[in-house]
Amino acid sequence: MASALDSATEKLASLDIGGSAPNLQKNLHLLSTEQIELAKILLETGQSHLFEHWAEPGVDDEEKKAFFDQVSRLNSSYPGGLASYIKTARELLAESKAGKNPFDGFTPSVPTGESLNFGDDSFISFEESGVKEARKAAFVLVAGGLGERLGYNGIKVALPREITTGTCFLQYYIESILALQDASSKLASGERQTRIPFVIMTSDDTHSRTLELLESNSYFGMEPSQVKLLKQEKVACLDDNDARLAVDSRNKYRIQTKPHGHGDVHSLLYSSGLLQVWHDAGLRWVLFFQDTNGLLFNAIPAALGVSATREYHVNSLAVPRKAKEAIGGITRLTHADGRSMVINVEYNQLDPLLRATGYPDGDVNNETGYSPFPGNINQLILELGSYIEELTKTGGAIKEFVNPKYKDASKTSFKSSTRLECMMQDYPKTLPPSARVGFTVMEPWLAYAPVKNNPEGAAKVPKGNPYHSATSGEMLVYRANSLILRKAGIGVSDPEQQVINGQEVEVWPRITWKPKWAITFTDIKSKVSGSCSISQRSTLVIKGRNVFINSLSLDGALVIDPVDDAEVKVEGSVVNKGWVLEHVDYKDQSVPEELRTRGFGINKIEELEKNLFA
Ligand code: UTP
Repeated sequence: MASALDSATEKLASLDIGGSAPNLQKNLHLLSTEQIELAKILLETGQSHLFEHWAEPGVDDEEKKAFFDQVSRLNSSYPGGLASYIKTARELLAESKAGKNPFDGFTPSVPTGESLNFGDDSFISFEESGVKEARKAAFVLVAGGLGERLGYNGIKVALPREITTGTCFLQYYIESILALQDASSKLASGERQTRIPFVIMTSDDTHSRTLELLESNSYFGMEPSQVKLLKQEKVACLDDNDARLAVDSRNKYRIQTKPHGHGDVHSLLYSSGLLQVWHDAGLRWVLFFQDTNGLLFNAIPAALGVSATREYHVNSLAVPRKAKEAIGGITRLTHADGRSMVINVEYNQLDPLLRATGYPDGDVNNETGYSPFPGNINQLILELGSYIEELTKTGGAIKEFVNPKYKDASKTSFKSSTRLECMMQDYPKTLPPSARVGFTVMEPWLAYAPVKNNPEGAAKVPKGNPYHSATSGEMLVYRANSLILRKAGIGVSDPEQQVINGQEVEVWPRITWKPKWAITFTDIKSKVSGSCSISQRSTLVIKGRNVFINSLSLDGALVIDPVDDAEVKVEGSVVNKGWVLEHVDYKDQSVPEELRTRGFGINKIEELEKNLFA
């Protein structure tokens, strides 16, 4: 032990510590062999400034040890350790300073994929095969993000998807997976009841609150053993182009850290060993999705059906994209040397790429009113076998990028520290040309309603582009549900135009149902019959599995909540004062944050509740 320590100390001596880190030299005797090895890495990579403020031995000694605990974590959680992180950072920072185009030599073109129309025969048949496949799927939610643009104090998955029932995003996701699990298991009669695995990637910013949300709600009905939380570590912040690590302004014995991006999900899944467990259990698909999309499960069954039918190794869900909308475009990139890939190009890179390659107007809409490049909504379906094969080669490492905000045109200093980042949708970048990479375009009203922007951010969205706010997120749920019921034959009234939190939105009847009522369009059609109508001011909440709507005329609020999933037939005329949507002031601090950010609350004046009879 003593000799190992001696040799580590000797190695440090050879690094001229006296000159570069005298304060570390004075404290050396406090450190273990492992800590001295870490110190060596830091000095060899030009990080001696981290020790400049170290106190004399005897002062802050516990903090000094805690510093090395942090360095140890940063070193072990990054493939290749801190030395590799700093090396990559220097390379990427130099490329960024030189203004190097990451797509140099590539020409963009519009790729081909599957485009679906809700409710037609092909959509219905893809939904059917998707439900069959669902018992061979695992779901992965990436929920480690800070949500800076939204600025919500809690975690985003705890936000209500809609306030009519108050169901939060996590509950909606879990109940949807359980509904798919039931539907899929039924189709595979004779086999054991399936338990679809559900992984949530968290970070230090979200982990404990996510766990608490699950535990205090009995996992929203899911078996706790089905759910696994994987926590991503943050990465070190960088102060300058030499990749000097940033000292935390709140504690000089800590390195400042920030999230590394959702691309971490691949290395975490790989190192957790879960992929192999799933493969051995006969699973075929891994579905990745994000923290706030209240329409996601309208798209999942059909998209999974597309993956299975087209045998896609990678299937990205997409929606038609408005030019300059803040979502990436799915693009085929072909290199002069013959390489070709179908990949997401971030919205801020698409315009310069197009201008540089023969599209002088850049990112603009075509005659359809949309960009020709489908908009990536970052919900991915990967085929498990080829996914494992690829990760075995890469260890799950995803190509990183750096995005420093420079102080001026000299690009020598940053406005604030930066860090390396990686995105889960960059996974196909390393795939061989034989990989089957496709996408599935859904109508935007059906599949995509993220909550990312606060009202100020939403106000800056170019006119006509989606707001991606709490207000639009909820209104789009009602709109989609209304349009789906219309397609199933119900006479749903037209919406009312309103301005809420400065955003022009359509207010449709507040219609919402639990996923167990219906997870596909075929389910919905089987539960709706006769001549039905729902007025614009109405609210309809369906909570039971076996609720059949037959010749209902609704002008008010109706909540159908049968006991024990009893069969309920709903018919006749329901008229009452209903539940009224009331605007609230975004700036009024006395109003709960969940309501202020969406700009309205619901005054539940009168409703008919059907819950007692079968
Ligand atoms: P967003 O692009 O919405 O980023 O992430 P964000 O960090 O949540 O929000 P902003 O940019 O700070 O406003 C898309 C998804 O990726 C997850 C988020 O939780 C969200 O589901 N994510 C993001 C991670 O899991 N880890 C990360 O490091 C970043």
